[in-house]
Amino acid sequence: MAMRPLRHTSRLPPRKFLFIIILILVPICVIGVWTNAQKISYFFRPIWDRPPPPFIHLPHYYAENVSMDHLCRLHGWSLRPEPRRIFDGIIFSNELDLLEIRWQELSPYVSKFVILESNTTFTGITKPLFFASNRARFAFAKEKIVYDVFHGEIATRGSHHDPFVIERKQRIAMDSLVRISGISYDDILIMSDTDEIPSPHTLKLLQWCDGLPPVMHLELRNYMYSFEFPVDYSSWRATAHIYGPHTRYRHLRQTNHIFSDAGWHCSFCFRLIEEIVFKMTAYSHADRVKRKDFLNYSRIQRLICRGDDLYDMLPEEYSFKELIKKMGPIPRSASAVHLPAYLIQNADRFRFLLPGGCVRAPQ
Ligand SMILES: *[C@@H]1O[C@H](CO)[C@@H](O)[C@H](O)[C@H]1NC(C)=O
Ligand SMILES: *[C@@H]1O[C@H](CO)[C@@H](O)[C@H](O)[C@H]1NC(C)=O
Ligand SMILES: *[C@@H]1O[C@H](CO)[C@@H](O)[C@H](O)[C@H]1NC(C)=O
Repeated sequence: MAMRPLRHTSRLPPRKFLFIIILILVPICVIGVWTNAQKISYFFRPIWDRPPPPFIHLPHYYAENVSMDHLCRLHGWSLRPEPRRIFDGIIFSNELDLLEIRWQELSPYVSKFVILESNTTFTGITKPLFFASNRARFAFAKEKIVYDVFHGEIATRGSHHDPFVIERKQRIAMDSLVRISGISYDDILIMSDTDEIPSPHTLKLLQWCDGLPPVMHLELRNYMYSFEFPVDYSSWRATAHIYGPHTRYRHLRQTNHIFSDAGWHCSFCFRLIEEIVFKMTAYSHADRVKRKDFLNYSRIQRLICRGDDLYDMLPEEYSFKELIKKMGPIPRSASAVHLPAYLIQNADRFRFLLPGGCVRAPQ
């Protein structure tokens, strides 16, 4: 239906009219720019959550027992005579259980696990070296681990502490750690957070197929608190790179290609409420999180068992709190199909990640 534009007749002389418009628009623009500047300095990650052009989704084919040759060809790629080496690079925070699942799941395909851990958070708060003090738990991967500590700076009162700058410094440190890990051109490098886990069959394609795009984002299924609460497929930050002279460690939009259904992203999937509280407080810029009743463990327990939003408690980096706010509690799923095999094999140890297991251990 086409509508005729309405014609407004103004009795004001044009100049005066223009002046009034400017008088109205200028303050609006100033406020707009100011709030955006606030957003940029405070809410540093959400601005990356709205990437500019839409992704081109590469279809992903997989079924058990189909040959690699056939799978490569379905993607328009071809089988390599030799597998590529895969390097898995993460900047670690405190996700110890997911780290174990990740490394156990990916170990058959990965040559080196490159892991950087900072002794501060992005917001300049001291952080215990969780990996260093739990290293024995990861002895199963000991020959493959390339670990380093990033020496962060503490935010002091009055100092301007820019999370962007810290994140950039960590990425640069990550670049050199990757270099010394023994990577060569044409190897695969995965860049992701600990809780963004590519699936084994995704890694097998990366290993065995020629003709892949040099950089691909990995589309991951989003989960919240555990695999009982699937949110959507919107996780896109993880990437797979064919390593070359220009590869740099990043965790943002790098290309238009995204490989569909390539793994799992489980946010706030912690065994202990204490770990959730650590992540909420240490990575948030907002003092609101430190309000006592927000950190009431029994309240948090109640909310995560309902798949509900922790309201204003989540740090700014957390990207789908707006979504949950709009949609209400995440519908519970009773499916534990298509999850990491290591998780299913060790279901007894990881009950809290599976359907019906939302009650966390007493503190
Ligand atoms: C998968 O392949 C193996 C051996 O290659 C065979 O023993 C097994 O029966 C196959 N499974 C299915 C579901 O076809
Ligand atoms: C981080 O580690 C470095 C080197 O050990 C140390 O100088 C620095 O004080 C540490 N920072 C914090 C916040 O613990
Ligand atoms: C936590 O909240 C519950 C009610 O939701 C209350 O009964 C309890 O006393 C609170 N605990 C603390 C430590 O504030």
